[in-house]
Amino acid sequence: MAESINVEELQRNAQLRREIEEQITKRFADEDDVLRQTLAAQHQAGLPEIQISPIQGRLLQVLVAACNARKILEIGALGGYSGTWLARALPAGGKLTTLEISAKHAEQVRAAFARAGLSDRTEVRVGSASELLPTLQSEAPFDLIFIDADKGGYPTYLDWAIKLSRPGSIIVADNNIRYGKPFQEPPPDLDNAGVAAYNQRAASDPRLRSILIPMDDDGMDGFAISVVLP
Ligand code: DHB
Ligand code: MG
Repeated sequence: MAESINVEELQRNAQLRREIEEQITKRFADEDDVLRQTLAAQHQAGLPEIQISPIQGRLLQVLVAACNARKILEIGALGGYSGTWLARALPAGGKLTTLEISAKHAEQVRAAFARAGLSDRTEVRVGSASELLPTLQSEAPFDLIFIDADKGGYPTYLDWAIKLSRPGSIIVADNNIRYGKPFQEPPPDLDNAGVAAYNQRAASDPRLRSILIPMDDDGMDGFAISVVLP
């Protein structure tokens, strides 16, 4: 018989993990009132509460610094929470362009950027990413591209992210673990199939060096991070 599971130890470890995450958040990734207001406004407007965690926001800022980003592209803005983390990390003269399919969400995002004092360095474009991405070629290359939109579109967005990048650009995609569903064979639905195809490409495309990192939802979800190689 297999050794019995020690439930108390599992619970202790889960609790400890949450406390460690709180400490990391407090010490490295503390939200300020502006970010809290963005979350409150998002809640008030009935938007889904599926934004990145503060630790993920801070990781995006670290990556912005790592690739010396001046031009950032975000695909999927939601309520402007991740966009605020991103735009705050830009140097003077830098710009975040964020694509959002929902006009209602886009209004929230513009209000969030205005509240954060970021209107001068941000632009929200409304429409489907598949239609907007080809129009961005004259503004490329982008130094960092953050993908956090409809999961079925992820393979297309990765294609465009590579097209709109330069050697040394960093491409990040959110929700590429999804409780392991993209690893099932076959994946259970089109969203998970999209993420599975993205992960497969990120892992094997010779133009990229990539890793998938367990982060939020107790490590059940996380970022795929790729650097575009010379
Ligand atoms: C979903 C989308 C997200 O971008 C996310 O971070 C979590 C959940 C969703 O569509 O369910
Ligand atoms: Mg997401």
